[in-house]
Amino acid sequence: MAESKRQISIPTLREMKERGEKISMLTTYDYPTARLLNEAGVDVLLVGDTLGMVVLGYDSTVYVTLEEMIHHVKAVVRGAHEAFVIGDLPFGSYNEDPSQAIRSATRLIKEGGCAAVKLEGGIEMAPTVRAVADAGIPVVGHVGLLPQTATKVGGFKVQARTAEDALALFESGRALEKAGAFMIVIEAVPAPVGMLLSRSLTVPVIGIGAGAGCDGQVLVTPDMLGLQEAMTPRYLKRYAHLASTAEAAVRRYVSEVKAGTFPTEEHTYSMDPQEEAKLSR
Ligand code: KIV
Repeated sequence: MAESKRQISIPTLREMKERGEKISMLTTYDYPTARLLNEAGVDVLLVGDTLGMVVLGYDSTVYVTLEEMIHHVKAVVRGAHEAFVIGDLPFGSYNEDPSQAIRSATRLIKEGGCAAVKLEGGIEMAPTVRAVADAGIPVVGHVGLLPQTATKVGGFKVQARTAEDALALFESGRALEKAGAFMIVIEAVPAPVGMLLSRSLTVPVIGIGAGAGCDGQVLVTPDMLGLQEAMTPRYLKRYAHLASTAEAAVRRYVSEVKAGTFPTEEHTYSMDPQEEAKLSR
């Protein structure tokens, strides 16, 4: 009998943390990739606002709109049958006040169909997290490097390098958990900071560039598959080099089309000879 696949839910994720099973998370922006990652057993699919940079060609995540997020969340949800899908709230869709955050999060859940939303920010976002969670919407926090507001700290830099900054980050993590976040993403911090935050919270802490001591890991899928090789942060491990494989395939296609060696009979529909003769006449 085929083994039935497990449906990942918030209780599943909490149980995974409790029994020390690491949580795998990857970003996803479209239906075929969502299917592939789901089949490969990824626990959580994050429709991140990295969408802007890795799919839409913007040079920052700040230009991503709520409409664009909803469009891509819908596609991912269609392909993710067992994996848990989180949609990112883009910059400007939750920063004004908690009621704006509730409205945007409701749209992402209702129109996009994802199971939870993620928003960036530390202790200052706790009231917003509380409001969204109280509205019945599961929320994921995001601390450490915050790409949407990275210009404030001088760009994409490792955060919480000093004990003082790390303690402030722990305070943020605790405030977000208390406000109702069921999971926290922590980005670009030294490994001891990732490990200590994971140990000090009861909710799962998922690291990206935060060391092996986190409860789970997340990477940006086009980066880890080598579909684009421009980004080379230290934490990134490339598991494949799909861009060079794809480029070689496309170059071959172009040269075969030019040479007339594609298509051959194998890739051509035939016609009944009598019909062909009639046609020629
Ligand atoms: O937007 C995103 O893809 C993210 C990940 C980098 C965690 O927030």
